[in-house]
Amino acid sequence: ATAFPWQLYNQEVIQEENKVPSYTLPDLLMKSDGKRVESAAEWEKLLRSQTLQTFETEVYGQIPNQEVAVTYEENLLHAKTLKDFGSIREIRFSIEKDGNRIQAVLLLILPDRSSPVPVFLGYNFNGNHTIHPDESISLPESWVANSPEMGVRENRPSPNSRGKKSSRWAVQQILERGYGLATMYYGDIDPDFDDGFENGVHSLFSKNKTREKDDWGSIATWAWGLSRVMDYFETNPLIDKNKVCVLGHSRLGKAALFAGANDKRFALVISNNSGCGGAALSKRRFGETVAAINDRFPHWFCENFKKYNHNEDQLPVDQHQLLALMAPRPVYVASAAEDLWADPKGEFLAAKNASAVYRLYGLKGLQLQEMPEVNKPHIDGYIGYHIRSGVHDLTAYDWEQFLNFADARLK
Ligand code: GCU
Repeated sequence: ATAFPWQLYNQEVIQEENKVPSYTLPDLLMKSDGKRVESAAEWEKLLRSQTLQTFETEVYGQIPNQEVAVTYEENLLHAKTLKDFGSIREIRFSIEKDGNRIQAVLLLILPDRSSPVPVFLGYNFNGNHTIHPDESISLPESWVANSPEMGVRENRPSPNSRGKKSSRWAVQQILERGYGLATMYYGDIDPDFDDGFENGVHSLFSKNKTREKDDWGSIATWAWGLSRVMDYFETNPLIDKNKVCVLGHSRLGKAALFAGANDKRFALVISNNSGCGGAALSKRRFGETVAAINDRFPHWFCENFKKYNHNEDQLPVDQHQLLALMAPRPVYVASAAEDLWADPKGEFLAAKNASAVYRLYGLKGLQLQEMPEVNKPHIDGYIGYHIRSGVHDLTAYDWEQFLNFADARLK
């Protein structure tokens, strides 16, 4: 049997709807003077940046507004690997600041088209080489988590894991539908362990600096990395920079959402099973809670977020407001029925409640009163949603819905 995270976590975990405490969601349209905003212009002017700022200071930490020097080195792996569907490239990013440097490698797979293509951009968990069996794809040079399944020992990746996560990346489907796929190993930007904020991107900005309560955690650094990839897209004429869809699964879905909130250049934002600190409402305390996530992953959020351990009622924002920061851009929230740790209903309710801001723009958000049936996607509004059957994962089914949603909203 699988060890569910809540069996590892020895606090009581709410797994039944009738145990959810009563809670009040912050009214996302309420101004400090007690009046509600009534237009998109007012939202943009008076509330949007304030809401984003609260997420920065209380949840994820501030992304430093400082320049870095980035160079790109492109390498075409071979032109016709993927059954004549497209080209495959690696782009090595060298990111420098104050004499320190990190390197990250973007894998870019594009369909054969004569005009610029829309792309999906998302991090992978285990290395670019795990998303497709092509032998020319490089293994990560940065730290990877030890894993018997992936053959990782002493934090070095194994070539035996080539293509091992290909079920999560519907490469052929994506290319056939005219989209490109760009992915990067998230550990290239910030290795996912608590090292006191010394390595990865933190080494460029905050080495030997005392940590402030709103200094960024790893989720914010991953979001920052996605924006650096967007900078690169702006230099590449093969890519339609107005149609970049940023997505992520689980912790990387939390990062994709924060990236989409911060960077309006992302045209469409997708959260797959992102759960606590992602699309799920924190105040419900269903499944993973603020205390549970801060205990097991103390490096993901800013220090201030720990004030809300067992104290969610005091949180000045909740995650429906994060989704609302995407407006008027389309956003998609995907849940999985057996993924109770991520609180599917909390993800649905956040999506539903974000709709009020879309309405200000005259757009349909998610027009559903109750959670839809399993495997019945809702993609007709600017907030898409589905709950699929099965466990915590990113599957071909999920991709099919994301592609349909992107076709409907961007084409
Ligand atoms: C853990 C964690 C979740 C996270 C997930 C993942 O289960 O508790 O918050 O989303 O890992 O990234 O797979």
